[in-house]
Amino acid sequence: MTIDSRDKLFLRAFRNEATERPPFWLMRQAGRYLPEYLEVRATTSSFLEFCYTPEKATEVTLQPLRRYNFDAAILFCDILVIPDALGQKVQFVKGEGPQLEPIRTVEELSALSVENLHDHMAPVYETVSRLSKEIPETTALIGFAGAPWTVATYMVEGRGGTDYSNIKSWAADRPEEFSKLMDLLVEATSAYLIEQVRHGAEVIQVFDTWAGVLKGDQYDKWVIEPTRRIVDAVKAEFGEVPVIGFPKGSGPLYETYVEKTGVDGVGLDADVDLDWAAEKLQPKCLVQGNLDNQLLVKGGPEMEKRVKTILTKLGKGPFIFNLGHGIVPETPPENVARLAEIIHNWKK
Ligand code: CP3
Repeated sequence: MTIDSRDKLFLRAFRNEATERPPFWLMRQAGRYLPEYLEVRATTSSFLEFCYTPEKATEVTLQPLRRYNFDAAILFCDILVIPDALGQKVQFVKGEGPQLEPIRTVEELSALSVENLHDHMAPVYETVSRLSKEIPETTALIGFAGAPWTVATYMVEGRGGTDYSNIKSWAADRPEEFSKLMDLLVEATSAYLIEQVRHGAEVIQVFDTWAGVLKGDQYDKWVIEPTRRIVDAVKAEFGEVPVIGFPKGSGPLYETYVEKTGVDGVGLDADVDLDWAAEKLQPKCLVQGNLDNQLLVKGGPEMEKRVKTILTKLGKGPFIFNLGHGIVPETPPENVARLAEIIHNWKK
């Protein structure tokens, strides 16, 4: 007998139903901290090609589920497949991260197009379809994309780790021009996420890793507005599908993000104060987070104490346990096993 997907613990949490313990998963739960990931990864030199190979992407998505009883699996892919699909040159250089041929003018922008989006993403949709058949029946399947602001930072800066001066000045000084890039990303990202749901994704997460770069009206315009439009587009097609936003580094702006974007859940980074989140955010939406990923590297009593504090302080309201940012490659897999054990034994 197959269980009704609505009964999955992960999905029940969004309906604010009483659950015996909070559901949990970890950002980057598939990846380089797992030897079995490295083994499959070594069979394809290009990271993007790896993401576009359904057999391999499916396999590495499932790997962490064989070790740990996570309540959700996240599609294995990357946020930078969107600029790739739009026609920008994107490469992952070993040891250096992503490198893109920067887009900084309307002329460069006019070379990009959504025309081939779905053809380009066909292998990703195929991975989602395979996963929806292959994951354990109690596990939820999360689809994802980068938020327009974060994807645009890579598109304009050309790589990570910059001071964001190119994109910040384009956005502030020539907003009509910059809007064209953001509109394109809103359109492509909405269509891409809707198609992921159509192929079996049950929850969507929108990663806005660099939201914290913006303040004031710039935050409203380039973080909140585009995210709200994507949430609206997904909800117009699939009103029941929960959307989690992860506006990392937003500080006090987390509150307006939750109020204005329409997300069902919000991912908290490790800097967010737990009492503040319980008081200001949880009455408005589900919160997810927020263990420091370095504490997961350390493990031991310090990690255990913090995990219990998070469970106690956030466990009273709608809550999904996660990290404050993705697992780093140095993480000992046994620390993840210990974390899973603590959460599974937790009684409210
Ligand atoms: O398990 C999962 O969480 C799903 C897979 C996933 C990846 N990237 C795989 C990946 C997800 C959800 C992402 C999102 C992503 N990608 C974000 C947003 C979340 C965050 O972590 O802030 C961002 C900013 C990117 C862009 C990106 N991709 C960078 C900067 C890098 C290089 C840095 C690094 O960690 O090496 C990547 C590459 C990448 N994406 C890897 C993985 C497993 C490592 C590449 C490899 O295995 O060779």
